[in-house]
Amino acid sequence: MSDLIVRTYDGCGAAALTEKVVGLYAAVFAEPPYAEGPEDVEDFRDLLAIEIPQPGFRLVTAEVDGELVGFAYAYSLREATRWWEDITPSPAPEVTAERDGRTFAVKELAVAAPYRRKGIGRRLHGVLLARRSEERATLTVRPDAAPALAAYESWNWSQLGVIRPGGGEITYVVMVRSLP
Ligand SMILES: CC(C)(COP(=O)(O)OP(=O)(O)OC[C@H]1O[C@@H](n2cnc3c(N)ncnc32)[C@H](O)[C@@H]1OP(=O)(O)O)[C@@H](O)C(=O)NCCC(=O)NCCS
Repeated sequence: MSDLIVRTYDGCGAAALTEKVVGLYAAVFAEPPYAEGPEDVEDFRDLLAIEIPQPGFRLVTAEVDGELVGFAYAYSLREATRWWEDITPSPAPEVTAERDGRTFAVKELAVAAPYRRKGIGRRLHGVLLARRSEERATLTVRPDAAPALAAYESWNWSQLGVIRPGGGEITYVVMVRSLP
């Protein structure tokens, strides 16, 4: 896509993009299987404000004609993270042994519906994970989010197990891959 512009931001630069990112999040995650509404979007806005200052934070954006059409972001887990708790089956101790800077956690990847299947997700993912100091990356994905699951599997992510946050109804697949 010739007019696609991809940019990378650290936490300082990302804060100014909050409204655009939240707007695209609202549009993308209103779709099935997520069906998120205004309260979920406000929860995302609050979470993003907490995540932007995390160590190693990186946001990657995709724009076409000045319009935000995709974004992805991640940050480095801290040693005290609860990321590896409550996964079934229980991962091996060498997997769950966290230390500051060991793991890059991918929190969101989204492309506006009219721009999908054009390689934008792949590009965002590649730039997000490029030249990182962490040894591995992790993410969670709903098993019913078929395009996302297919994308991650084709990008060399492996399924580690599943979690059910707060004992709720929704199950997430926990995935990992080595970096680079
Ligand atoms: C997942 C998502 C980001 C992919 O973005 P995209 O720009 O369409 O991705 P790409 O065009 O780079 O495609 C990458 C690969 O994803 C897979 N894929 C994407 N859409 C797919 C679909 N509808 N069905 C099957 N596989 C699909 C394919 O493996 C594809 O490679 P290919 O086109 O060479 O076959 C996009 O579908 C999206 O925003 N989905 C809604 C939000 C979401 O689920 N985010 C993930 C949260 S964890």
